[in-house]
Amino acid sequence: MVKIIFVSSSGEKREVEAEPGMTVMETATKGGIDEIVAECGGACACATCHVYVAPEWFDKLPPASPMENDMLDFAVDPRPNSRLSCQIRVEQELDGLTVQTPSQQG
Ligand code: FES
Repeated sequence: MVKIIFVSSSGEKREVEAEPGMTVMETATKGGIDEIVAECGGACACATCHVYVAPEWFDKLPPASPMENDMLDFAVDPRPNSRLSCQIRVEQELDGLTVQTPSQQG
């Protein structure tokens, strides 16, 4: 099991258990993280699964694809550490991955 830590826009921390192979978005949905909307169901077509990755984790993730980068332009208030959580696949090495969810999804 891998733990993913979601920090809400108001600073509330929640740990959700994930299986390797799931995405961070699927983990959020399963864990009832309602600031992740995931309208397109993970097709990289909506940007409503936007998260801010904790700085210490950002460089440990595989880089965003050109498609993800294009879609991030549609996220509300994107920042240098923005990612789409449906494009981050959970691996054992990501145990403790911490992401903050924005107060608003696009
Ligand atoms: Fe739509 Fe991630 S769920 S882009």
